Amino acid sequence: EKGTYNHFMLKEIDEQPFVIRNIIQKYQNENGKIKLDQDIRTAINDADRVYVIAAGTSYHAGLVGKELMEKVAKKPVEVHIASEFLYNEPILSEKPLFIFISQSGETADCRGVLVNVKKQGHKALTITNVPGSTLSREADFTLHTYAGPEIAVASTKAYTAQMAVFSILAMDSAYAQGIDTDFDAMQELGLIANAMEILCDQKDKLEQIARDYMFETRNCFFIGRALDYHVVQEGALKLKEISYIQAEGFAGGELKHGTIALIEDGTPIVAVTTQKHVNLNIRGNVQEVVARGANACVISTESTKEEGDQIVLPDIHELMTPLVSVVPLQLIAYYAALHRGCDVDKPRNLAKSVTVE
Ligand code: F6R
Repeated sequence: EKGTYNHFMLKEIDEQPFVIRNIIQKYQNENGKIKLDQDIRTAINDADRVYVIAAGTSYHAGLVGKELMEKVAKKPVEVHIASEFLYNEPILSEKPLFIFISQSGETADCRGVLVNVKKQGHKALTITNVPGSTLSREADFTLHTYAGPEIAVASTKAYTAQMAVFSILAMDSAYAQGIDTDFDAMQELGLIANAMEILCDQKDKLEQIARDYMFETRNCFFIGRALDYHVVQEGALKLKEISYIQAEGFAGGELKHGTIALIEDGTPIVAVTTQKHVNLNIRGNVQEVVARGANACVISTESTKEEGDQIVLPDIHELMTPLVSVVPLQLIAYYAALHRGCDVDKPRNLAKSVTVE
């Protein structure tokens, strides 16, 4: 039920802090240790490489999951679009583990890959919001994202929940391998839930940004570097699927290799900068587009902020910023769609689960 909300999407955006706190509880046992099936731990430990297979928003969560797994647990990860992997399988490592990320657990493109890799005798884990779904039943293992039913076609809370579960998996894998890490996923997730709340309380401001930047535009570019590149791809997907504004997420440094030709007077650009080591680089990219007439909206953190940034996020662990920086992107997409008179919860041409290849 929508309760006091006009749309499921807004309700589901607002639920994110609760979902994250729920995940912390579900993945912790009484003595504060990570609660995880020993078989899953062994499967990850035994793998020499993890292959993440997913589509759409879940694919974007996988891109962040890769960074977490590689940086925290030093485990190599490849992330593949399910429909591409299905007909163009790359060379696999000796001992691969497949991780399917799927909110619905029913995505046919993922299922096709799962059937193939099971035939080849590989192990598979599904991270899903629907235990008992096809991908959950047919994989060897399942991890639940505990986000509650996601009704709006545009995925929001499932995305942040998927990344949260991945962060726990990464920390667990580091421990299991005896890697010395100060990364405490549970603690970070607690801070993230609080930070998400702060963002959810800035709806008026984000609504105004949507009006100022997106009301009349035909297109919009999102830029970021490193982890922020992954989150801007998700921000662009959100905007295009519900507001029908043509939107793309680019790596900041890549703009000058072609896309910058599209910048004209008033073209909106949303830049996300949460990673200190590339803050100056992305600032440079923002200047390049502003010099060509773009209307830039910058989302930064307490550590990367500069005067004039539209949204400043509280500081959280640099590997986990997508869980927070996506919230303003979701809200901007929501208000852009709302003010353009679009059917927010049921955008045209889209279905909640894509059960055809
Ligand atoms: C975007 C969206 C889709 C899904 C994609 C995969 O908001 O909802 O891109 O993320 O169709 O769906 P699942 O996660 O159910 O496999």
